[in-house]
Amino acid sequence: MKICVAGACGRMGRRILDLAAAEDGLEIGGAFDLPTLGGTQLSVGEGERSATVVVSSDAGAEIAKSDVLIDFTVADACVGNVRLASEAGKPAVIGTTGLTKEQEASLRGLAAETAIVYAPNMSVGVNLLFKLTSEVAAILGLQYNVEITEVHHNKKKDSPSGTAVRLGQCAADALGLSYERDARHGREGMVGARPEAEIGMHAIRGGDVVGEHTVSFFGAGERIELTHKAHNRDNFARGALRAARYAVEAAPGVYDMQDVLGLK
Ligand SMILES: NC(=O)c1ccc[n+]([C@@H]2O[C@H](COP(=O)([O-])OP(=O)(O)OC[C@H]3O[C@@H](n4cnc5c(N)ncnc54)[C@H](O)[C@@H]3O)[C@@H](O)[C@H]2O)c1
Repeated sequence: MKICVAGACGRMGRRILDLAAAEDGLEIGGAFDLPTLGGTQLSVGEGERSATVVVSSDAGAEIAKSDVLIDFTVADACVGNVRLASEAGKPAVIGTTGLTKEQEASLRGLAAETAIVYAPNMSVGVNLLFKLTSEVAAILGLQYNVEITEVHHNKKKDSPSGTAVRLGQCAADALGLSYERDARHGREGMVGARPEAEIGMHAIRGGDVVGEHTVSFFGAGERIELTHKAHNRDNFARGALRAARYAVEAAPGVYDMQDVLGLK
């Protein structure tokens, strides 16, 4: 299977290329980035499997040489890249975050013709955490107060993280609450007693933390905490490659990592 990486010079793009070079059954069919980065040479893989990838700026040509597009770029570029893949009859894996509702609607339109795996967090562990959060919330019920804490590096732009929002939605759905209505972002001042029908959301920013998420269930006299800590970006990159293998076999439609991992 030949992968094409959009955003090849980025942190995630480079890691995906590096891991793909080392993985059996995978080849690098294409790699592209912004025109200013066209011609960049990337050393990927190790030993016998090391190679030099020359980054292109011609998205269409790179996609045409590949079986599946993997996009880790920026929200404004992502839909255009997936449209090119769809026009070429190629499935797409989207890791890019921060898409607007309109951009997500455009993806759903393109998914009528092609398989799209769209997952703001491709880590296997985090996707298991989504499932566990739903299950634990359903078992414990509203008597256990759900508070979600996330820690990220000081360069992160969005807050709370997309992963924390998804965890909040998992808990809210399992408890019969509405995340939009019942999420409480931080607390300050005389806020009064905590109501049961609330999901606490807390974002901590500092240093170079790759990403940590904890879902706490506070009961009377005890608490349960589910924690995921990402040590580096490899867990996302490996998830993206797993999603690519899934996408090339899938019928047109939008899928997420729960589909890829068989957690639904
Ligand atoms: N789904 C996940 O598991 C996951 C994990 C980590 C990061 N992300 C997301 O992936 C995206 C990329 O993250 P990153 O840390 O690699 O960022 P980055 O800034 O290091 O890399 C982004 C790359 O995209 C390139 N780019 C921008 N516009 C482009 C275009 N029109 N065509 C081609 N390339 C273009 C940039 O030049 C850059 O090289 C972000 O949205 C981030 O939030 C998702």
